[in-house]
Amino acid sequence: MRIVVLGATGQTGQYLVNQALHQGHVVTAVARNPGKMTVMHDKLQVVEGNIFSEESLKPLFKDHDAVISCLGFPASAFSGVTGYTQSMKAVIGAMRETKMNRLIAMTSCVLTNMYEMENFLKDTDDINWTVVRPPGLKNESATAKEILTHEGYFVPDERGSPIGQTIARGDVARFMLSLLNSNAWVKKGVAMITK
Ligand SMILES: NC(=O)c1ccc[n+]([C@@H]2O[C@H](COP(=O)([O-])OP(=O)(O)OC[C@H]3O[C@@H](n4cnc5c(N)ncnc54)[C@H](OP(=O)(O)O)[C@@H]3O)[C@@H](O)[C@H]2O)c1
Repeated sequence: MRIVVLGATGQTGQYLVNQALHQGHVVTAVARNPGKMTVMHDKLQVVEGNIFSEESLKPLFKDHDAVISCLGFPASAFSGVTGYTQSMKAVIGAMRETKMNRLIAMTSCVLTNMYEMENFLKDTDDINWTVVRPPGLKNESATAKEILTHEGYFVPDERGSPIGQTIARGDVARFMLSLLNSNAWVKKGVAMITK
């Protein structure tokens, strides 16, 4: 597939880009600072783009099959976080203009603005979105472990308590990429963890 990766220069994003290329996908990595991207590959194009601007994203999205977002915006004590909703509005606008309808984005349950972004997506009927909600992220490569999933904010054990508190960023990337070939979690928020 031809995929656009947002947040490609981030910690999860870099795992995801590497795995996507390894799986044979053609990747367009959109970055505010393309020089930060350390991965090089003949099927990887790193382009400068403004994730808050539909006009900036539109030409970059053209002729792609899906958008995967690993964007993250740090919490600030001085100002509220708005990056999730602001970027998602531009992304959805650009996807509509370029007739793309598969979106896979990662969030968690920490920031109000993540909820707001997810609520915005719930009102987006024409896009096949999936929100992936991992627990705490570790900077580790993908494993071969089984991935457990649950619709909601965490994967519960038999008593209803969360199974595990952390996951390798490589495994989050592995799960997000697996969704390119699956309709299982379309228009849903899915919590995930490795067994
Ligand atoms: N930390 C956890 O334990 C945890 C748990 C569950 C979910 N999550 C969520 O998972 C997501 C990914 O986490 P991560 O730790 O892999 O992220 P990360 O390393 O902080 O990377 C964030 C990415 O977003 C980009 N970005 C941030 N602000 C931007 C802006 N204004 N314009 C353009 N790009 C911008 C960064 O670009 P630059 O490289 O240019 O800065 C980077 O590529 C986040 O949404 C995070 O909240 C985190």
